[in-house]
Amino acid sequence: MEFILVTEQHEPHVALIQLNRPKELNALNLQLMLELRDALAQLDRNPAVKVIIITGNAQAFAAGADIKQMSDKSAIDMLTIDQFTTWDQIRKTKKPIIAAVSGFALGGGCELAMTCDMIIASETAKFGQPEIKIGVMPGAGGTQRLTKAIGKAKAMELVLTGRFISADEALSYKLINKVVPVEMYLFEAFTLAKEIAQMSPIAIQLAKEAVNRSFETHLDEGLQFERKNFYLTFASQDQKEGMQAFIEKRKPNYLGK
Ligand code: HXC
Repeated sequence: MEFILVTEQHEPHVALIQLNRPKELNALNLQLMLELRDALAQLDRNPAVKVIIITGNAQAFAAGADIKQMSDKSAIDMLTIDQFTTWDQIRKTKKPIIAAVSGFALGGGCELAMTCDMIIASETAKFGQPEIKIGVMPGAGGTQRLTKAIGKAKAMELVLTGRFISADEALSYKLINKVVPVEMYLFEAFTLAKEIAQMSPIAIQLAKEAVNRSFETHLDEGLQFERKNFYLTFASQDQKEGMQAFIEKRKPNYLGK
């Protein structure tokens, strides 16, 4: 891996992926995205990992897709490169992903953070979809996920002006989960990850799937989906263990079975 660093912590089952092109503010070139896709697929298959954190550095989560790599491409080049298949594969990660964001999360960087399941931000974080300023528009879900997250009026404003919002604004629009001082954002992401990692990995996966389904379907279909996943949890040993542990007033020992 040239552009990302992957660290696995077997206890407490949290893996960290760090985007690592600091001189380019972690601009997301095609290779970085392929590496990220491969790392996520590998961690998704690894039973020792329950939660994944994606981060950058204090200055930048990611300042967007790599403009230098894209600038001379034609529409047909972009179609043939087909980078969004990579993004679709990332979106299909079954384990929860937390984005730990500090500094710039712009364009594809903001879209990557929104592709994650939760966002913890440092108070220096800046979110935005500035593609309009370079003659294009969001292409990796920005017009859809931002609108679903913060509503039409604000999303339209951000997409059409390209202006950045602070972490506090992002929190007030419910785009992100929490804002903390810059020294704390990674720690805070780990704290959240560790709390989730204590749960049954089967229940985590089924619950993530069901929450995501609410963005893709009508209420009735979503409720049916939720119900089936709820029933499915009863096929796991973890369900028996979780409920027995409650009754016996002890901590559950989940095996992911
Ligand atoms: C390539 C980038 C980059 C990017 C920064 N750099 N962003 N290179 N693609 N998206 C490089 C700069 O060229 C520069 O390298 C170095 O990183 C530092 O950036 P500066 O501009 O000198 O830093 P600063 O003055 O602090 O400004 C920071 C910034 C600005 C406000 C974040 O860099 C900026 O506006 N970046 C572009 C943001 C953007 O438009 N993102 C959307 C991209 S389109 P050199 O070697 O030149 O000094 C997109 C589409 C997504 O994301 C859909 C498809 C996935």
